[in-house]
Amino acid sequence: MAILVTGGAGFIGSHTCVELIAAGYELLVIDNLCNSRAEAVSRVEQITGQSVVFLKLDLLDKPALDACFAQHKIEAVIHFAGLKAVGESVSKPLLYYHNNIEGTLNLLAAMQRHGVSDLIFSSSATVYGDPDSVPITEEAAVRPTNPYGRTKLMIEDMLSDLTASPADNHIWRVVLLRYFNPVGAHPSGLIGEDPSDIPNNLVPYIAQVAVGKLQQLSVFGDDYATPDGTGVRDYIHVMDLSNGHVKALQWLQQQDAGSSMCEVFNLGTGTGYSVLEMINAFEQASGQPVPYKIVARREGDIATCYADPQKAQHLLQWQADKNLSEMMADTWRWQSSNPNGYDDPQE
Ligand code: NAD
Ligand code: UFG
Repeated sequence: MAILVTGGAGFIGSHTCVELIAAGYELLVIDNLCNSRAEAVSRVEQITGQSVVFLKLDLLDKPALDACFAQHKIEAVIHFAGLKAVGESVSKPLLYYHNNIEGTLNLLAAMQRHGVSDLIFSSSATVYGDPDSVPITEEAAVRPTNPYGRTKLMIEDMLSDLTASPADNHIWRVVLLRYFNPVGAHPSGLIGEDPSDIPNNLVPYIAQVAVGKLQQLSVFGDDYATPDGTGVRDYIHVMDLSNGHVKALQWLQQQDAGSSMCEVFNLGTGTGYSVLEMINAFEQASGQPVPYKIVARREGDIATCYADPQKAQHLLQWQADKNLSEMMADTWRWQSSNPNGYDDPQE
């Protein structure tokens, strides 16, 4: 029996594969490689010393997905596959609704047809939009502010409806994980975040400035109501996040197999850092300067966002252990040893 990992060649998926293998699970990875490289899966094999079954497969390809479920014994699904760029979702909303919603619908239909009950879904803190207060608990209001965030909330709602009203006597056991800001890389430096274009997110941008690929960072606003005026976020090491998936899967598999359930968890550290603190921590960890300039706020950004992670601590027995300097040191190891990501011409 295998765990089906959709989007397993991507940033969080590849790191989670390492943790799942370490916990003794057998994997089946599917990915259409629209935002990743098959090399990431080879590197997972290199790190773990185990072979991983990988299929290049698009969730929009229903017959291929069905054949995948027919040919493999799947005990549970961890569903990372999706498009995730906030700005692109504003300019191409149909692409996002089509890929993320329809891809998930196809996956759920295949699970139902083949009698697979257990699902872990990658949601996001973006569903909270601009929170009324911090730290953010799972009970906080949800009001995403962009099409990407709305795809996440729609899928959460679909899964919640499904578990409330089991179709055709199918039992669904679902965990929704709302990630805060994943950063860092596997400590080996073999896998990490490999944006296909100029990075949208802070840490990969800083890393590319430090390695000399980009000239300077633009800090989006220093007039927020935060201690130093720059945006504050809950950055979480991707290995801690990956371990959260293993804990969630183990917990899910211990739940009553006779009734449907859907449970949501924040995965964050509970601590917020500002953009200027992040720059400073990266310079310390890498020994490289990160030149920056303050520019106007980025549309849609909020001042402060960090998690209350207590529910995951209590129920999943999980908490983030890695500190900011480990996040930055591991990012730097990955970036400096793979300056062009998985595309490195030296290979
Ligand atoms: P990623 O882009 O590195 O990984 C997603 C993977 O899904 C990619 O490998 C991509 O090729 C694949 N994919 C996309 N559409 C597909 C399809 N139709 N069929 C098959 N494969 C498809 O992104 P990530 O950072 O690893 O994020 C993983 C998940 O976590 C996503 O669902 C994302 O929305 C969510 N998430 C990410 C963050 C973040 O900041 N990285 C934060 C919150 C939530
Ligand atoms: N920032 C800069 N310059 C940059 C990039 C970012 O100053 O070049 C700032 C932002 O203004 C923000 C902070 O750095 O204050 C973090 O920005 P990111 O783009 O790294 O992350 P966000 O919090 O904006 O959003 C990310 C993902 C979302 C996800 C959210 C919560 O992009 O999809 O984390 O998980 F929903």
